[in-house]
Parts: sequence; structure tokens; C-alpha cells
Amino acid sequence: MAIKSNRAVRFCFVWLLLLQSGFVFPLPQPCRNLVLYFHDVLYNGFNAHNATSTLVGAPQGANLTLLAGKDNHFGDLAVFDDPITLDNNFQSPPVGRAQGFYFYDMKNTFSSWLGFTFVLNSTDYKGTITFSGADPILTKYRDISVVGGTGDFIMARGIATISTDAYEGDVYFRLRVNITLYECY
Ligand SMILES: *[C@@H]1O[C@H](CO)[C@@H](O)[C@H](O)[C@H]1NC(C)=O
Ligand SMILES: *[C@@H]1O[C@H](CO)[C@@H](O)[C@H](O)[C@H]1NC(C)=O
Ligand SMILES: *[C@@H]1O[C@H](CO)[C@@H](O)[C@H](O)[C@H]1NC(C)=O
Ligand SMILES: *[C@@H]1O[C@H](CO)[C@@H](O)[C@H](O)[C@H]1NC(C)=O
Repeated sequence: MAIKSNRAVRFCFVWLLLLQSGFVFPLPQPCRNLVLYFHDVLYNGFNAHNATSTLVGAPQGANLTLLAGKDNHFGDLAVFDDPITLDNNFQSPPVGRAQGFYFYDMKNTFSSWLGFTFVLNSTDYKGTITFSGADPILTKYRDISVVGGTGDFIMARGIATISTDAYEGDVYFRLRVNITLYECY
């Protein structure tokens, strides 16, 4: 018992020394990589049959039909249930749904914050992957966090590099999501 706790004390001491000396643990090699696409069709008053996302919050003076016309949509909040595809074709059979929300969070440029889960239930993948992070939309490649997962992706951790693969005005955008996991089980 005494020997064990001695060891524990020594271990903690080594830890503290490492931390103090600015030692950083090297990132492990990625254990899994996959690229998926999702398609967001925002409701605009005319496309109810096709829309997969809708505004649920808007700043004072704006409405829930169209994105706020000023301040780069600042304050608009949308909820989505978007199809996920293996390639960049809107017509491809979906392999799951991207479910979550985004809101516009900067007045002086286009920027949003994303929180969503990929719910996958196909022959390729079964399980969920949950993401969150800042999305500076005008930057070509943005990294967001993979904060967890279930099923095939149980306890997943890593990053996802997202890029806007296509967009049509305020109604449609397609995100390419390159998921790199550093923890897999
Ligand atoms: C919502 O706002 C847009 C842009 O200001 C406007 O064209 C539209 O008529 C408004 N809709 C409603 C229902 O007020
Ligand atoms: C996944 O798909 C199968 C086959 O269509 C279905 O039986 C099952 O309930 C689905 N699971 C979930 C979690 O949606
Ligand atoms: C649904 O929206 C997508 C993306 O804007 C578009 O390509 C497609 O033609 C639309 N479908 C219908 C039936 O309007
Ligand atoms: C996905 O991201 C990883 C890590 O940044 C990179 O090595 C890989 O080439 C990317 N894959 C694709 C298909 O872009």
C-alpha cells in the first residue's frame, strides 16, 4: 500500500515537472477519416415542400421568413434536419441526417456557430457523430470539433474540416465535411 502511494506521488511529481516545462503530448495518428456532404435548403416562404431548415429566431425588426437583411444576418437562428450524402450530388440517396442548428454571430462579417449531430443509419455507417464550433463562413476551410459519437463512432473525438462546396443565394448551401478522428474504439 505504502509503496503504491509512493509511486503515485512520484508519478504526480513527474507530471507536474512535464507540465511546468511546457511539454506537450504529441497528437496520435488519425485512426479514421471520412468525407461526407450535407445539404441545407432554407425555408424562404415558397419552398415548404423542399426546405430542410427554418429560421426559429430572428433579431428585433426582422422576421422568420427571410434571413435578416442587415448586419450579415446577425441574430438569426436556424434549425435543420438536412440529408447527408456520400458525394456532392443533391439527388444522391441520403445515408443519414444532419440535425442541429446554426446562428449568425458576427455583425461585421458572415460568421456562424454550428452545433449538430450526424445521425447515420445506412449499410455504410450506423451511429452518430456530434460536432460543434465556430464557422467563419468566408474562410475556405474551417475546423470544428468532433465532440463525441455513438454506435460505429462510439466515443469519437477529432476535428472536422468543413468547406462550403456550393451555395445558391440564401436558399441552399452544401457543406463538405472531412472528418478526422484521433480517438476510435
Ligand atoms: C419578412 O421580411 C422580408 C424582408 O424584409 C419581407 O420581404 C417579407 O414580406 C416579410 N414577411 C413577413 C411575413 O412579414
Ligand atoms: C435504422 O434502419 C433500420 C432499417 O431501415 C431500422 O430498422 C432501424 O430502426 C433504424 N435505426 C434507427 C436508430 O433509426
Ligand atoms: C430543392 O432545392 C434544391 C437546392 O436548392 C434544388 O436543387 C432542387 O431543384 C429543389 N427541388 C424542388 C423540387 O424544388
Ligand atoms: C481530410 O483531412 C485530412 C487531415 O487534414 C487530410 O489529410 C486529407 O487529405 C483530407 N481528405 C480529403 C479527401 O480532403
